[in-house]
Amino acid sequence: MSDNFFVTTPIYYVNDKPHIGHAYTTILADVLTRYHKVAGIPSFFLTGLDEHGQKVKQAAEARGMSPLDHCNDLAPRFTDLWEKLEIQNDDFIRTTQPRHVQVVQAILQKVYDAGDIYCDEYVGWYSVSEERFITETEKDSGEFRDVAQLKEKNWFFKMSQYQQQLIDYIQKNPEYIQPEHRKNEILGFLRQPLGDLCISRPKSRMDWGIELPFDKDYVTYVWFDALINYVSAIGYLTDDENFNQWWPAVHLLGKDILTTHCVYWSTMLMALGLPLPRTIFAHGWWLMGESKMSKSLGNVVSPLDLIDRYGVDSVRYYLMREMVLGQDASFTMESFIKRFNSDLANDFGNLLNRVSGLIAKYFDGSIPPPSKQQGSDKPIIEKAVLLEDKVKTLIESMRIHEAIEETIVLVRCVNKYMEMQAPWKVAKTDLERAGTILYVATEALRISAVLLSPVMPSKTAAVLDILGAPGSKAQWGQLQPSTQMQTHTALFPRLEIPEK
Ligand code: MSP
Repeated sequence: MSDNFFVTTPIYYVNDKPHIGHAYTTILADVLTRYHKVAGIPSFFLTGLDEHGQKVKQAAEARGMSPLDHCNDLAPRFTDLWEKLEIQNDDFIRTTQPRHVQVVQAILQKVYDAGDIYCDEYVGWYSVSEERFITETEKDSGEFRDVAQLKEKNWFFKMSQYQQQLIDYIQKNPEYIQPEHRKNEILGFLRQPLGDLCISRPKSRMDWGIELPFDKDYVTYVWFDALINYVSAIGYLTDDENFNQWWPAVHLLGKDILTTHCVYWSTMLMALGLPLPRTIFAHGWWLMGESKMSKSLGNVVSPLDLIDRYGVDSVRYYLMREMVLGQDASFTMESFIKRFNSDLANDFGNLLNRVSGLIAKYFDGSIPPPSKQQGSDKPIIEKAVLLEDKVKTLIESMRIHEAIEETIVLVRCVNKYMEMQAPWKVAKTDLERAGTILYVATEALRISAVLLSPVMPSKTAAVLDILGAPGSKAQWGQLQPSTQMQTHTALFPRLEIPEK
């Protein structure tokens, strides 16, 4: 089992342009990967597109295109957005790629040969929008659209026989499904007898999928196909060395696709005799104010519009700072602007302006040396020295908003320290002491910038460039005295709340 960090996002359906929900999980994976890289842990970040199945086929039909042409046409909307969002994924898988198709078919054959796939006639309720057979209780819940009764011959995966093994695993591995309330939700689901999983679709009804290797009249059910991306991309059955280097993964996903990951995917891996993922982490939903974002309500936030207006780093910052992982969060322009103004303009940006202005004024822009420290410097130095470990622990337990807050707390403390120490007054009588104060403040700012760099890669790189410390680490003392600072304009000018 690898100790390296392998993180995945869901692979997104290519049926529309990406929205804020897609952007959120992808930024989250990117931020986690960058934090691991800062900590020196080898990391691999996978994302991609889910290109088979009914939803994609219908979207293609609506545009009068073949499904593959439609996917080829829309895929760049995702990759272009990832580029704009400064996402540094290591791989981008599309389920129509031969490297994936080949592994899906090999897995199907393997599970079939092991006797875990059988053929049966099935009569049941089918939800076209969810693309799966649903239970009587689910049908009666009214939560499913386009429900029809279907009777057809299909292929089934013996999911039910792994039910107890899965329950035992979840109970023995409390980190497996997170957060805790999602684990309980799945354990609750598993209290009912688990059925077998229908993993085929007759081509006569739906032909856009991967053909079953043992029955040419059927394609694979889109979820059975899609989940396999997590192992096909890293070389399962094709490149053992690479596969063993990365597996098992940390899967990030929205709460709506928890069951498919925790139940379908876990039992599929059990059938293959593979270790289960390290963690399945479900985040909540971005709501638009209080309501769900939906195309029909016309309130879907476009990540591109936000980036164009406010810059990529502020969008990344807001999304990471505002959502408590695991809970829903409410998106409003007002909270976006408030967050920007308080944390980035007033705290972080302001500290940079202050130290660079004073160093320019009293030291010709050359970083002053720290001479004798005084008792009043200690709390700042201690906080800054401890911050890296604190952030690391918070990131490991997926408390990203707290890791960011801890870093901004240091920045706030430094701003207070500046007010108390008033180096602009001290400079008039004791230039050496003023230099020490400014060194302490600037060094703490530099460490905050390093620790915020996974969230705001561009702006923090600009700060480090201004301080003449590009590529420096989060350890105290890396800011070099006598380095010439660069002049700059305000990096985070305050935003006005737009009038309604
Ligand atoms: N193709 C499947 C995933 C297969 S993974 C093997 C799929 N795709 S999706 O494009 O419909 O959704 C992808 C993700 O977007 C899900 O994790 C979903 O929770 C997330 N979100 C969709 N709307 C969202 C919000 N409003 N807020 C946060 N995430 C949301 O499902």
